[in-house]
This record gives sequence, C-alpha cells and structure tokens, in this order.
Amino acid sequence: MRALGVGILGLGNVGAGTVRLLGEHRARIEARLGASVHIRRVLVRDPARERAVATAPGLLTTDIEAVLGDPEIAVVVELMGGIEPARSYILAALRAGKHVVTANKAVLAERGAEIFAEAARVGRAVVFEGSVAGGIPLLRSLREGLASDRITGLCGIVNGTSNYILDAMTRTGAGFAEALAAAQAAGYAEADPTLDVGGGDAAHKLALLALVAFGVQVDPSTIPTEGISDITAFDIRSAAELGFVIKSLAIGQRDDHGVSLRVHPTLVPRGHVLAGVQGAFNAVLVQSDALGPSLYYGRGAGMMPTAVAVVSDILEVARDILAGLYSGTGPSGQPTILPAAPATLRPLAEVVCAHYLC
Ligand code: NDP
Ligand code: HSE
Repeated sequence: MRALGVGILGLGNVGAGTVRLLGEHRARIEARLGASVHIRRVLVRDPARERAVATAPGLLTTDIEAVLGDPEIAVVVELMGGIEPARSYILAALRAGKHVVTANKAVLAERGAEIFAEAARVGRAVVFEGSVAGGIPLLRSLREGLASDRITGLCGIVNGTSNYILDAMTRTGAGFAEALAAAQAAGYAEADPTLDVGGGDAAHKLALLALVAFGVQVDPSTIPTEGISDITAFDIRSAAELGFVIKSLAIGQRDDHGVSLRVHPTLVPRGHVLAGVQGAFNAVLVQSDALGPSLYYGRGAGMMPTAVAVVSDILEVARDILAGLYSGTGPSGQPTILPAAPATLRPLAEVVCAHYLC
C-alpha cells in the first residue's frame, strides 16, 4: 500500500485533534484512500509540554527543516496560528514542493494573495476548510456545491467564542469575563482572544468567504468591524424585551455595483434561524440565484470539529496526489484557489441589510 507523509506544524487544540483523528480513523482512511497517511514530524515550540494526545518518541521537533527537508513529507499541515512564522513556513513548504493544509484564517486573510500566488507558481495546493466555521464543510460547499450557481449574499455566525459569550450572557446571565474564560478553557478562543471579541477573527473569515463565494480579494482591515466587548447585560435584556437576540454577524453581499462586507453585533428577531444558534456553534445563511437560501450549521470551533475539516483537507490533497494530478512540477498542477480580483468595498453607508437574512 502506498504511504503519504504528512508534517504538522503545531500540536495545540487543533493539532492534537488532527493527530487523534488520523489515528482513530486509520483503517477507514486506508480503505477510502487505498493508501496510508503517516505523520512523520510535528513541529512545536516546547517538546516537554504536556499534550492532549500521545505522540511516538522522536515525532516532535523544534526544527522546521526536519519537516521541510523530509522528502517523504508531501503535505504540510499548518496549525500554529498567527502571521509569522506561519507565513514564512507556508511559503517555504510550497517552495519545497509540499502541499499545504491550514486552519489559519489570519495568515490567509492577511497574506493570502502572496501565498496563493506562490502556490499557483509552484503548482501546489493550499486548502483551508478548517479556517472558516470549524468542522462545517462550508467552503467546500461554496466552492464545489454551489459552483454552478451565483452566490449573491451570505450572513452568519462565524466566531464561536463570541457566540458562546453572547449565548451564555443571554441564557444563564453569565458575565462577559466569566463566559470568555469558559470559551478559552474549552479551546475555542484564539491565542489572542481580542481577535474573537473584537471581531477581527470574523473579519478574517469573512474575507476568506468573500474570496471563495464572490471571487474577490479583500484586505480584512477595510471591512467595517465591531466586536462584542461593549455589549452589556442591560443591552441583552433590552433586546429581549423587544423580541430580539443579539448575535455577532458577518455579512457579505454582492450586486452589480460591487461587494459589501461587515461584521457587527446585530439585533436578530427571536424567531429567526440564527437567533437559536447556541454555544460555539456557527451558522451561515447563503443566498444564491438558482438555489435560493441554503443554511450551513454545526460546530464552528474546538479540537475535534476543526480536526474533521483539517483531516478531510488532507484526504482531498492525498486523493489528488494519488490520482496523479500533481505528477509534474510547476504550474501544470492545480491550486485550489484561482487568482481573484481585488475588491473595492462599497462604503458602509450604502449597505442595506439583506431582507432575506436579517
Ligand atoms: P494553539 O495555541 O492551541 O496551538 C498552537 C500550536 O502551535 C502549539 O502546539 C504551539 O507549540 C505551536 N506553535 C506556535 N508557534 C510556534 C512556533 N513559532 N514554532 C513552533 N510551534 C509553534 O492553537 P489552536 O490549535 O487553537 O489553533 C491553531 C490554528 O487553528 C490557528 O490558526 C487557529 O486560528 C485555527 N483554528 C482554531 C480553532 C479552535 O477552535 N481552536 C478552530 C478553527 C481554526 P507549543 O505547544 O509547543 O507551544
Ligand atoms: N477562535 C475561533 C472561534 C476558532 O471562536 O470561532 C474557530 O475558528
């Protein structure tokens, strides 16, 4: 049986889930793929740290060259987070002929143009299902399931930590700090949780959604973004008295005049499908011309849900490698994301909340 070598960068929440899932589903993966997937090295900062998953002796390394220089490693899985050194390692992996799987929305939203251009130049794939909405196969649905349709709008909850906090404040009366601490303990929050509660993580994800759904490149710093840090128990009670639930939504619309994107706390009518989304679950409503509305719902953060997306990405790349799609080098390979047009966002004043969504 053929073997596919994988190198993993990072063994935190998502890295540990990925190692665990690859181990637990080894037989099913081999049956499905007709090949085995071997984790050859895992890069960490501190090999002595206690891990959520057991690792074989010698598997952990602090030397990136032990991963990039291993000719048996075909796929590098970046699960470190942040911009640097993730960006440099991803670029170096592509230049070393590796394919890249990542759940790092920050690096792709901020430096995606450079990374996708390099992937196209060297004919290697960059896939990133785990970067948006955790385990929900949302990007794959937009990329493939709706490939035959024209997506005109999307609106949803894409930051599990913010939803967890707002939901806890609404249903149990928990305080903001207490709810954030619980989200961190559950492994939902970013290493820098201000990205979650400040809306930056949702803006990163919205930029990636715009890339896949609308084919436009957006600088996430240009997306009007408001977090949930200023939402108080009084706001939540007042909204409830008026029949609303406060949700942090990422909203994207496309029309003949361009694209508008924004992230902010929103008053959602109590009976709306997004109002009932609890805990760290995510839900995204998508509007497309031929299909109409479709809803994508599930666990949007956490160790095992995100690992599902990461391992599915590894299997997608493995299938393409085994099918000979990347047998040549150079631009004959087929990167997943095609070059996208830079987008000029419409000013916020022109944005109208889509009637079918909010
Ligand atoms: P963690 O902080 O739990 O883990 C990060 C891992 O990366 C750690 O093992 C750390 O090593 C390693 N690491 C960080 N910097 C370096 C470095 N410079 N050199 C070597 N190793 C390094 O993060 P998560 O697992 O929560 O998240 C990983 C990625 O997945 C992020 O991009 C995040 O945004 C994304 N993501 C997270 C989700 C979640 O629910 N947590 C959901 C979806 C996506 P060490 O352990 O030795 O410190
Ligand atoms: N911190 C992120 C969230 C992890 O809470 O949604 C999933 O991307």
